[in-house]
Amino acid sequence: MSFEVKKICCIGAGYVGGPTMSVVAHQCPDIEVTIVDVNSDRIAAWNNPDLSQLPVYEPGLDIIVEEARGRNLFFSTDVSRAIAEADMIFISVNTPTKNYGKGKGMAADLKFIELCARQIAEVATSDKIVVEKSTLPVRTAAALKSILDNTGNGVNFHILSNPEFLAEGTAITDLLSPDRVLIGGENADAIEALVNIYARWVDRAKILTTNLWSSELSKLTANAFLAQRVSSINAISELCEKTGANVDEVAKAIGMDSRIGPKFLKASVGFGGSCFQKDILNLVYIARSYNLHEVADYWDQVIIMNEHQKRRFADNIIQTLYNTVSGKKIAVLGWAFKKDTNDTRESASIYVSDYLMNEQAQIAVYDPKVVTERIYADLDYLNTRSVDENRAQLEVWKDPYEACKDAHAIAILTEWDEFKDYDWERIKENMKRPSFVFDGRKLLDRQKLESLGFTYYAIGE
Ligand code: NAD
Ligand code: UGA
Repeated sequence: MSFEVKKICCIGAGYVGGPTMSVVAHQCPDIEVTIVDVNSDRIAAWNNPDLSQLPVYEPGLDIIVEEARGRNLFFSTDVSRAIAEADMIFISVNTPTKNYGKGKGMAADLKFIELCARQIAEVATSDKIVVEKSTLPVRTAAALKSILDNTGNGVNFHILSNPEFLAEGTAITDLLSPDRVLIGGENADAIEALVNIYARWVDRAKILTTNLWSSELSKLTANAFLAQRVSSINAISELCEKTGANVDEVAKAIGMDSRIGPKFLKASVGFGGSCFQKDILNLVYIARSYNLHEVADYWDQVIIMNEHQKRRFADNIIQTLYNTVSGKKIAVLGWAFKKDTNDTRESASIYVSDYLMNEQAQIAVYDPKVVTERIYADLDYLNTRSVDENRAQLEVWKDPYEACKDAHAIAILTEWDEFKDYDWERIKENMKRPSFVFDGRKLLDRQKLESLGFTYYAIGE
C-alpha cells in the first residue's frame, strides 16, 4: 500500500522543527505543514508579522517563512488537532540530558518523546507515519512502537527514523542542499513516502535508507565524530602553545591529506551547542549499559578534553593578569555558541565567564544577537551564585566599545565576523594598560593587534 502525504504535522517548533519544516513547506507547496508546540510564546513569535522577531535566528529563514507562512505553512498550539489531521507526524521535541534519577547527567531524557507518542496514540483515528526527527538513543523506535500500539485506537503506525544533520547558523543551506538525508524504517511504503518528499529537492542518490537502528545510531555517531575532531585539534592546540607550533598551520597541513580532510579542525575555546555534549554523554551511557566500558571511556575522553579546554582558557587569563582578576573588568565578546545564531546552549562563554566570576572578575558581555535575559538565564541556570550576585558581577552591553571600555582584558569567545572589523585602535585607547586580548577563536590578526600595542594570546599559538 502506498501512502499519499497531504498533511504533515511537526511536534516541536524549536531550532530543528521550525527551520526544517519551514523548508519542507517551502519546497512542497501542495503539502500542508503545521508546526505545533506547547510553548505559546514560541508559536506567537513564529506567527509574528515582523520577521525579525522569529524565535530562531538563521540566515535566510525569514525569506522561507515569509513565502510559505499562511500558504501551506502554519504554526499552532493546537497539538491534538494537527496530529489528528496529519498523514505524517514528525516528532522534533527536545531530548536533553536527564537531570534526575537513573542516568542523571548522562542519559537522554525521553519524557517529552513519550508524551508525544501517548498524545498521538490517543488522538489518531487514522493510520499515521510517525517520524523521529529528534536525536534519540538507538532502539527508541521500539519503545515508541510499543506505546503507540498499546495505547492507540487500533490504527496502524509506521515508525521512521529521520535524524537531522543541520548545523545552526547554516540551517537553511544545510536543509536545501544536505550532504545526505537519512531515513531508517521497516515498512518500505512508509520509507518511500518520506523519500518522495525529500526527492522534491534532494538528489535521490543522497537519500540513504537503512534499518531503524542504523539510522538512530548514525546520528549519535556523526555528532560524536564531529566533536571528536574538535577535541582532537584542541588537544593539539595545547601542545602547540608549549612547542612553538601554530595550530592553524598544523590543521592546514593535516587537513590537506584527503583521508583527513580540512573541515572541523578549527581549534577553539571548546565546542558548545545543545547537542555535541548531550549526544556523546548519551552514547557513553548506552555503551556502559551494554557493559562496553572501553567504548564508553573512549568517547568520554572527547568531553573531558572539551571541559579542559574551557577551563585552561580561563586559567590562562587569570595567570596572565598577574594571578588575580578580582575586581578587574573583563570584556567577553560573543555569548552564542558559534557565529550566526542566537543559540547559547552549552556555549563556552557561559563556563569561561562563570570560572572568571568565581575569581571575582567583573564581566562585561557583548553579543550581536543574544538578548540580555538569555545571558542571565544561562548563568542563573548554573546555580553557582545568587541571581543578584550574577547581575552585580556581569553586565550586558549593547555597544561593544562600551563593553571594552576600561577593561583589563578582552576575551573573544564567539567567532562573529563583525569583531574583525572593529576599530581596535579606539578599543585600545579606552582600555587599561597593559591591554590584553585572549582570542578563543583565533579570529583576529596578531600582527595588527600587536602593532596597536595589545598583548595578544590566541588558542594554539
Ligand atoms: P528546542 O528545545 O529548540 O525545541 C523543542 C521544542 O519542543 C520546544 O519548543 C518545546 O516546547 C517543544 N515540545 C516539547 N515537548 C512537547 C510536546 N509534548 N508537545 C509539543 N511541543 C513540545 O530543541 P531543538 O534544538 O529543536 O532540538 C530538537 C531535537 O533535535 C533534539 O533531539 C536535538 O538533539 C535534535 N537536533 C538538534 C539540532 C540543533 O541544531 N539544535 C540539530 C539536529 C538535531
Ligand atoms: C552540530 C553538527 O555539526 C550538526 O551536523 C548536527 O545536526 C547538530 O550538531 C546537532 O545535532 O545539533 P551545531 O552544534 O549547530 O551542529 O554546530 P557546529 O558547527 O557543529 O559547531 C558545534 C560547536 O563546535 C560550536 O561551538 C563550534 O564553534 C565548535 N567548532 C566547530 C569548533 O570549535 N571547531 C570546529 O572546527 C568546528
